[in-house]
Amino acid sequence: MIRRLLPADASRLAQIEELQPYSAHWGEKGFADEVHNPYSFVWCWEEKGRINGFIALRLAAGFCEILNLAVAPSACRRGIGFKLLYFALTDVRALGGERVTLEVNAKNAPAVGLYTKAGFKPCGLRKGFYNGTEDALIMGMNL
Ligand SMILES: CC(C)(COP(=O)(O)OP(=O)(O)OC[C@H]1O[C@@H](n2cnc3c(N)ncnc32)[C@H](O)[C@@H]1OP(=O)(O)O)[C@@H](O)C(=O)NCCC(=O)NCCS
Repeated sequence: MIRRLLPADASRLAQIEELQPYSAHWGEKGFADEVHNPYSFVWCWEEKGRINGFIALRLAAGFCEILNLAVAPSACRRGIGFKLLYFALTDVRALGGERVTLEVNAKNAPAVGLYTKAGFKPCGLRKGFYNGTEDALIMGMNL
């Protein structure tokens, strides 16, 4: 089941981030703050009463940015990341979103594969963006 973030979910989402080095690492407070941001949309994947994945986006003036996405390692490769992404983009499109972009470590093959499967195309590269050594790939898609 996919549902909106609730304040009580913040600690579990922070826990998933801890298990996934490539996530954005907002921490518990970061997720709790998102609940009050009117431009923020955080969707959680819940199964058997436990959250095993999430996606966080912001939408303003037709432009959407994916800011954070992770699936618990024990739940990976079961289609959860793709379902969260598809659901979130369908919602953003219905709300008037026209273009969506994101930034991903160019070495992060699972995430680059996921976004490519969803229809994103590379549209920029920030050399040495992560720690001065690893490149950030910018990907985008018109909705
Ligand atoms: C990226 C991530 C969210 C994918 O979640 P997931 O639920 O395992 O992904 P799915 O099962 O929905 O897979 C969808 C597609 O992603 C790609 N993919 C997922 N895992 C992959 C892997 N380990 N290696 C290569 N491609 C992979 C594939 O294209 C896959 O499609 P396929 O099953 O038809 O081959 C997950 O690996 C994760 O949490 N990574 C750490 C956090 C992160 O990188 N966040 C993104 C920051 S920009």
